[in-house]
Amino acid sequence: MSIEFSYPVSRRSLLGAGAGLLLTTALRSLPARAAVPVDHRIMAAPTRARLAGEGHPETDVWAYNNTVPGPIVRLRQGEPARIIVENHLDQDTTVHWHGIRLPNAMDGVPGLTQPPIKPGESFTYEFTPPDAGTFWYHPHANSLEQLGRGLAGAIIVEERETVPVDRDLLWLLADWRLTSGGEIASGFGNRMEAAMSGRVGNTVTLSGQVSEEEPIRAGERIRLRLVNGSLARVMALRFEGHRPVIVAIDGQPCDPHEPEGGRILLGPAMRIDVALDMQGEPGRRYRVIDDFYDGLSYWVTQLAYGEKPPIREHPPDAPLSLLRNPLAEPDLANADRHELTLQGGMMGGGAMTGMGGMMGGMMGMGGGAAWAINGMSMTGDGHAGMEPALTFQRGHSVVLVLRNETAWWHPMHFHGHSFRVLSRNGVRVPHRQWQDTVLMAPRDAVEVAFVADNPGDWMLHCHVIDHQMAGMMTVLRVA
Ligand code: C2O
Ligand code: CU
Repeated sequence: MSIEFSYPVSRRSLLGAGAGLLLTTALRSLPARAAVPVDHRIMAAPTRARLAGEGHPETDVWAYNNTVPGPIVRLRQGEPARIIVENHLDQDTTVHWHGIRLPNAMDGVPGLTQPPIKPGESFTYEFTPPDAGTFWYHPHANSLEQLGRGLAGAIIVEERETVPVDRDLLWLLADWRLTSGGEIASGFGNRMEAAMSGRVGNTVTLSGQVSEEEPIRAGERIRLRLVNGSLARVMALRFEGHRPVIVAIDGQPCDPHEPEGGRILLGPAMRIDVALDMQGEPGRRYRVIDDFYDGLSYWVTQLAYGEKPPIREHPPDAPLSLLRNPLAEPDLANADRHELTLQGGMMGGGAMTGMGGMMGGMMGMGGGAAWAINGMSMTGDGHAGMEPALTFQRGHSVVLVLRNETAWWHPMHFHGHSFRVLSRNGVRVPHRQWQDTVLMAPRDAVEVAFVADNPGDWMLHCHVIDHQMAGMMTVLRVA
């Protein structure tokens, strides 16, 4: 290939010019394309994967289509999709399409939105993604073990227009607890752990393998889609020698901005798209460091520049900016206000605090609860008969105040909606991003707002899966 790299322009102008012609010549095939959803087939099954890289033993995992992570599911904004999920595990499963605003019956919560998919059976998910962006899918049944053994994959909902970058990359970061023999350590659902930070592992993979380096061409502009598919590990990524610009959070485009202190904070289940102008020197390596936990910093990979000269002299002038998705703007002046207080967990001395009598009772009932929301502990993954903690009227604007009264971090996820993050501890959040998962530091109070426009019973839970399983979960109803 001798084609010199040229900066691709948006296809809009080209399409605009040819649109009339296209319409007359291709008219017959258009209705067919619009009506027929693209089929995807996803099979959950045990397999083996080389997580630690060449020269290391393989690990027994559970995976979608025999790969870790599962295949990237590519959908198109506003076009119907049909995804057939086959269960070849020896236990029930479901798939949750994390962050996609879809009909309730397609949300993948066992008992609440669908019966679980039994071993040997399949379920067909059908929905039309309204938002372009980076999403992911994972089980919502026996979630701690199923996600912890490898069942996860990314979804890219493509924009209607070409995004002007040289490369579109996706890193699905996952955290594993491996034994010295390379197997996944047992002990899922350890109660002590569940009441603390959750199951943080010892091996971080980048799209299925421990990564030594990722090849980079000097001068290129990359859209890097970061997905934190960990059970419990919070990440704070720094790109040595580079200045990533955040262009989307949880699939939703935002004002392009550099992360605070140059660290990209990525809680479990969060996605952040960054624009990276590769301004490093040809032949050099730059580490990507995660230093979230004090004293436990490590590098995720290295950006390994090839020897070739930069493909362009200077980075493109304009920042990468993505078109907004069609989200309804909440009417803050007339919004219904509600509070959700996160409670429980271990304190310094190992005592359970902040639980009240309610929690004592729940724990006595053998529910294994360590956490609560507004004094109630919903444990597990979702089941029938979960009564909603709050009911919103369809179409109403809602402001939710999430109060973290615990000593731990919690990435709080709401199904079926995206919310605007308005403030943190009384201070207005600069870009008021749309997110579906908001990371809360100990003692944080966060205000989020959204229009309750998607009817159904929706989960709200912590995405540290041990926390969810141990009671940090509730159901909110849009009626
Ligand atoms: Cu990513 Cu309730 O889930
Ligand atoms: Cu939590």
